[in-house]
Amino acid sequence: MSKRIVFTGGSGKAGRHAVPYLVNKGHKVRNLDLVPLDCPGVQTLFTDLTDSGQTFNALSMHFSGEDLQTEGGPAPVDAVVHFAAIPSLLLKPDNQTFMVNALSTYNVIEAAVKLGIPKVIIASSETTYGVCFAEGDKDFHSFPLEEDYDIDPMDSYGLSKVVNEKTARAFAMRSGIDIYALRIANVIEPHEYDRFPGFLADPASRKRNAWSYIDARDLGQIVDLCLQVDGLGFQVFNAVNDTITATEPTRDFLGRWAPNTPIVRELGEFEAPLSNRKIREVLGFKEEHTWRKYVSSL
Ligand SMILES: NC(=O)c1ccc[n+]([C@@H]2O[C@H](COP(=O)([O-])OP(=O)(O)OC[C@H]3O[C@@H](n4cnc5c(N)ncnc54)[C@H](O)[C@@H]3O)[C@@H](O)[C@H]2O)c1
Repeated sequence: MSKRIVFTGGSGKAGRHAVPYLVNKGHKVRNLDLVPLDCPGVQTLFTDLTDSGQTFNALSMHFSGEDLQTEGGPAPVDAVVHFAAIPSLLLKPDNQTFMVNALSTYNVIEAAVKLGIPKVIIASSETTYGVCFAEGDKDFHSFPLEEDYDIDPMDSYGLSKVVNEKTARAFAMRSGIDIYALRIANVIEPHEYDRFPGFLADPASRKRNAWSYIDARDLGQIVDLCLQVDGLGFQVFNAVNDTITATEPTRDFLGRWAPNTPIVRELGEFEAPLSNRKIREVLGFKEEHTWRKYVSSL
């Protein structure tokens, strides 16, 4: 069903693929960002989401000038997808990364709840699993990484994402709306599959990403599935493609490259260590862009 969606951070690496995916599915999308997005049919409202007043306003405005024709004020928003963030450590001073990510997420969720918007989807991260931006060579506690893992990042970016999940849970409890947090894996754009031969040749280099990834277009599908399924309250979903970024079966590969980390359940032969079992079973996710389609040196 077609919905009216406010998407934040749609001009960024993930958003510029997820937004067209949603538009192609028939949704009407408004982008909130600091910089433009080139996507036909989608207007960007330049909004600093660390400012609560701007955020409340932006979530309660017309999507475009055409909407002025309809009397009765702005039409209701069905959902907010909040991707805007400082997307990594070391891009800004640590306190700024934490502040922008934690405060913008608080502002977006609070405004959505108080404006009566019934669903919010937020971008959490693989970094919550604690290894991506750890100091030194930290091991994961166990494999596969699933949503009930004891997340323990030691950096300001990962910590901001843990706080955001707690913010989401608090508002969902208080309001009863649906808030789904996507623990997004390393995002791969269509032109980035030429990096995979390097990933295969140097397995140690991908430990921080748990030898897993998400195609930016498949991430669009996951967002769309989250828009279609209602009534789940607060949820965390790993947003990941199906298979490990290696040619060896997962159990053998992990035995070699992560020998200190126990494997605590049966694994699919090539299952990604950052498992997407929950989105497959709960949302019906079916990946379209396995890396194996795009890497010719296999
Ligand atoms: N890229 C990855 O591999 C990856 C992995 C896991 C999670 N994530 C998360 O997914 C989301 C999207 O990541 P991305 O790679 O597309 O990042 P990106 O930096 O390419 O895009 C983020 C967008 O947010 C906007 N933005 C930043 N601060 C803002 C503010 N105060 N107000 C309004 N807009 C603001 C930026 O202008 C940018 O267009 C982020 O929340 C990121 O933390 C990304």
